[in-house]
Amino acid sequence: MQLASDHDFLNINDLSEPEINDLIELGEQFKHAQKTVHLSRPVYAANLFFENSTRTHSSFQMAEKKLGIELIGIDPATSSVKKGESLGDTIKTLQAIGIDIAVIRHAQTGWYQQLTKDPNISLSLVNAGDGSGQHPSQTLLDLMTIHDEFGSFAGLHIGIIGDLAHSRVARSDAELLHRMGVNVSFSGPREWYPADFDQFGTYYPDVDQMLPNLDVVMLLRVQLERLTENAVASFTPSDYYHTYGLSEERASLMKPNAIIMHPAPVNRGVEIASSLVEAPQSRIFTQMHNGVFARMAILATILDQRGLLED
Ligand code: CP
Repeated sequence: MQLASDHDFLNINDLSEPEINDLIELGEQFKHAQKTVHLSRPVYAANLFFENSTRTHSSFQMAEKKLGIELIGIDPATSSVKKGESLGDTIKTLQAIGIDIAVIRHAQTGWYQQLTKDPNISLSLVNAGDGSGQHPSQTLLDLMTIHDEFGSFAGLHIGIIGDLAHSRVARSDAELLHRMGVNVSFSGPREWYPADFDQFGTYYPDVDQMLPNLDVVMLLRVQLERLTENAVASFTPSDYYHTYGLSEERASLMKPNAIIMHPAPVNRGVEIASSLVEAPQSRIFTQMHNGVFARMAILATILDQRGLLED
């Protein structure tokens, strides 16, 4: 298959529906040990996480190891970025020493936009999260998790609840789910609802009105690190939980076969009752497990496009 942005993986919404379905299928094949790949030469990757990460960083590492990719360890905190080197010059340095794939998480929304126009950059760039922009590998693992459960997307009703304005997961997922024929609804504080989300679904001020109709209850982390100081000062976890959090009482409004998702890390007792994180209807740890195979699918597709897989 082809990835829309040449041999990069940057914005999930650049991909067509068949391309998304191919990636899900490939992820499933890796998950069920129905697919193995062999590299045609040694391949080197560097994972640069300029923002904190547990899941995305470790599951990209696991995916790379499972595919036989050699990892070159670089810690942004001790790299020459700290001496003022630009991201572009850092990428060109990695390319010069022989890195094939750079997986990057960066606080700057759209960090890759200038880099993809630079004719001197030819290594593959993978977006592991850009500011409030996109989190395309999270979206793919979310879709895998939903597909595992329901077998298809069209006609499902999915509610995304929380800090929609600052969540790159919300933006990636909402646009793609809408495109895949899902009935998307939103809830959360009005001031965290971006007006342009109206094109993807319907906003419900009252989460309790939305919950009984949902097949998937997708909760978002409250991103205190992206709020203004004033917003943080006025934020009360108990008020949020009371108004929007998935308490056991609220969960009782859900359909019997509805599932709970959250990209994590979870603020237990804020977005969701702690007792529900490991509840039977929760797929939060399944999402993390699927993340390894979704990322294997992304990387294997890039390797294929670069001619780095044996036939
Ligand atoms: N879901 C997610 O991106 O988690 P991390 O920030 O731990 O990678």
